[in-house]
Amino acid sequence: MRIIKLNAIDSTNVYLKDLLHAKSMEDFTVVVADKQLKGRGQMGTVWESESGKNLTFSMLKQNVGLKVTQQFVLNMQISLAVYDALQELNVPNLRVKWPNDILSGKTKICGILIENILSGSIINASIIGIGLNVNQVNFGKLPKVSSMKALLGQNFDLDEVLQEITKKLRNRLLKLQTIAFSELKESYEKVLFRKDKPSTFETPDGELQMGFIRGVSEEGKLVVTLQDNIQKVYGLKEIKLLY
Ligand code: BTN
Repeated sequence: MRIIKLNAIDSTNVYLKDLLHAKSMEDFTVVVADKQLKGRGQMGTVWESESGKNLTFSMLKQNVGLKVTQQFVLNMQISLAVYDALQELNVPNLRVKWPNDILSGKTKICGILIENILSGSIINASIIGIGLNVNQVNFGKLPKVSSMKALLGQNFDLDEVLQEITKKLRNRLLKLQTIAFSELKESYEKVLFRKDKPSTFETPDGELQMGFIRGVSEEGKLVVTLQDNIQKVYGLKEIKLLY
């Protein structure tokens, strides 16, 4: 597996995407940076990370071979790979918060940003961006955020953690086309944050609703049962879990 190490870059996702457009690349190439100047988060947010203390990296997966409508398969495989790696590193109380935040208890320790390169309705390649809080312990005003060091009270070797995650990612990505959706969905739902627990949700118009997360649909939407046992499915911008 080829690993490109950089001191500082705007975003490892953007850098890897640009590289891929400029030349042919080995599958599973990883770009890791000590510091990102414009780290990108989900839904247009910024990913903040203290220089040299955490992992900010992107992995390239080519020939994904899934339809755009199947992109949640990719999301589940990647979330579970990170989950498995962190489990191996003894991070306690791991959960995946839909769609792909990795939590320990109620605190987020890892964010994932998957950017797909399409060829018509097929995912041609994916840039898998991972931001994992490893040795940073001060998060200023950021709520519900933690790190491996804050949770486990020890420093971690960034290269060792990177090895563990990239190994698990590669193994799961190699099984993308062969894994049965039902099996994957079952593994994902087993570790889904607040599944079957009474929870409060906020809708885009600010309304609060009580309900239970039941799982995910084929398209990766969140399946929730509301009061009166009505079952609904929600996309990313349609619901926010309050916790
Ligand atoms: C999130 O908002 O939870 C997703 C955060 C993803 C951050 C990672 S850090 C490495 C890669 N490069 C980026 O610009 N973003 C991702």
